[in-house]
Amino acid sequence: MAFKVKMAETAIRRDSRIILALDFPFQTPENRRELLRKALKVIEDTNPYVCAVKINHHLTLPLGTFEGVREIVERIHNKGLLAIMDAKVNDIGNTNQIIADYYLSAGFDCIIANPFVGWEEGLKPLFEVTKKSNKGVILLAYMSHKGATEGYGQTIIDPESGEKIPQYISFARKALKWDADGVVVGATVPNKIAEIKNTLGKQIAIYSPGIGAQGGAAETALKAGTNYLIVGREIVNAENPGQAAKSLNEMIRGA
Ligand code: XMP
Repeated sequence: MAFKVKMAETAIRRDSRIILALDFPFQTPENRRELLRKALKVIEDTNPYVCAVKINHHLTLPLGTFEGVREIVERIHNKGLLAIMDAKVNDIGNTNQIIADYYLSAGFDCIIANPFVGWEEGLKPLFEVTKKSNKGVILLAYMSHKGATEGYGQTIIDPESGEKIPQYISFARKALKWDADGVVVGATVPNKIAEIKNTLGKQIAIYSPGIGAQGGAAETALKAGTNYLIVGREIVNAENPGQAAKSLNEMIRGA
């Protein structure tokens, strides 16, 4: 089953569109066992209210992909959730494929990649190796931070049609052409979510980080057309992460 179908089914089963970003502040390397303990505890507390967990360098760097992170991925799966690696893969094709091979071996269901590198000798090998094992690729379309306007927001001349279009619309079109499983558009830019949704239709889901800590609002992003909300600090740094995830999920279901 394709990753995008698995995501949709898990979201329905869990009655949640929240993807937990399992990010923690810096810990000295000597304290990394504590980081692993905390990560497993947050999964335990929040898993009934989320549909997937996204892992970033916050955990792969201190714990290692095949030391702590593989254990975390196994725990995520044991709870019936999907595991997404926020690698923002961004290199030449051969390197991208090897990056994907490692994350797939660690059990990840999906990898986030950057379409700036292009297709031939860029993301094509990553798509091929990932799709072959029925795993997913999500592409960045418009990031959630302010500086995203400098790259994702620039106006380009489309090399094929010669028309002037925003970079993020070009990325949304590539997502359709390359059969991506989703695109990331910041919750901080709801007007861009609506524009990109218009290009994608129902074929490709939108994933939006930037809720709370970065200033985005869940309700506004959902109204603009987001399918899944990626939430980190708002849940993980709360006094009671389980309660924070539960409350946010209730609010989203209401919206
Ligand atoms: P917070 O704490 O801000 O965490 O809720 C958000 C998480 O998502 C990552 N992030 C992004 N990932 N495209 C991505 O692929 C983006 O535009 C983007 N913005 C934030 C961030 O690194 C953190 O893990």
